[in-house]
Amino acid sequence: MPPQAPWSPERVRALSSAYWEACALHAAVQTGLMAALTQAPASARELCARLELDPRGLDILLRALLVLGLLSLEGERYVLDPRAAPCLTPGTPTDMSNAILHMADMVQDWAQLAQCVRQGRPAQRQDHHNPGPNPERQHFYRAMRDIARQQAKGLAARLGLQPGQHLLDMGGGPGVYALTFSQEVPGLKATVYDLPGAEPYFREEAANYPGVEVAFFAGDYLEDAALGGGPYQVAWLSQILHSEGPDQCVAMLRKAAGALVPGGELWVQEFVVTVPGHPFSGLFGLNMLVNTQRGQSYTREELLDMLGQAGLEGAEYVGSTKEGGPAGLVRGRRPH
Ligand SMILES: C[S@@+](CC[C@H](N)C(=O)[O-])C[C@H]1O[C@@H](n2cnc3c(N)ncnc32)[C@H](O)[C@@H]1O
Repeated sequence: MPPQAPWSPERVRALSSAYWEACALHAAVQTGLMAALTQAPASARELCARLELDPRGLDILLRALLVLGLLSLEGERYVLDPRAAPCLTPGTPTDMSNAILHMADMVQDWAQLAQCVRQGRPAQRQDHHNPGPNPERQHFYRAMRDIARQQAKGLAARLGLQPGQHLLDMGGGPGVYALTFSQEVPGLKATVYDLPGAEPYFREEAANYPGVEVAFFAGDYLEDAALGGGPYQVAWLSQILHSEGPDQCVAMLRKAAGALVPGGELWVQEFVVTVPGHPFSGLFGLNMLVNTQRGQSYTREELLDMLGQAGLEGAEYVGSTKEGGPAGLVRGRRPH
């Protein structure tokens, strides 16, 4: 991470208003402005007509985006920075629009943060995991997909995955990891295990991996005794422990370990809290405070301790998933 400026009134003020920048980006995606500008530069008048926006509202948003450096002006036309365009072009493999929309959905929850800290309870809101279609749920699963696509490539080799192994992607959601691993290791068998509501998003993503076969098993890892059709040689638990408290995490890890063959490997990917460390990992715990009953982000020591309590041996922190990124990897083994 780049070094931070020393604390000063200016830095405190900038921190207190940092959400303005985020909200400007959210609005630019929510109104369709960014998607429109990924197609071609356009004038305010053209954008107003096409997107049915208020001229004053659009003009003020465009000025803010110019100042943020996301846009520039060529004559009367607004041009999206070509380095930002790949993240904002809907339907492309590098698109982050759903991750942005998911963040925008959570602004109302974060606005209740002080209340959540006082009461230790999540914000009063809709639960993204409840069954039934809703836009927030769509944004959530597609955001998981957008983020996983940035991380999954090349990871199969680091995990040492081999043809003939059966991998459990526990809480695998849209299945990007299981699908990418199977693409990179022909002959690997993989099963995504998740709530029934995740299946449409898994099917949607699986269509992008022609010739790759991954099974989806609908279930609830807190309730079900078994995790699909094991036994498995490898279990991959990516970004699921943080939604639960330590006791539930140990129970989930024990269940995953029980689904492994003796000597099978269990991998955890989480936003691991370290101080000093990546700000996103540090702040992610607050996201769990406002969104879940018991969740939080964990330190590497806490994760290793939970693996030990679940009966896994050789537990170790392996390092960041991506150099300088917020996610880290922990692994352990089911004893022989
Ligand atoms: C933060 S997402 C992580 C998705 C994916 N593993 C990844 O890293 O991109 C958490 C996932 O856990 C799933 N999940 C939450 N509670 C679950 C439960 N009780 N049983 C099965 N899956 C669950 C969600 O549906 C979601 O797909």
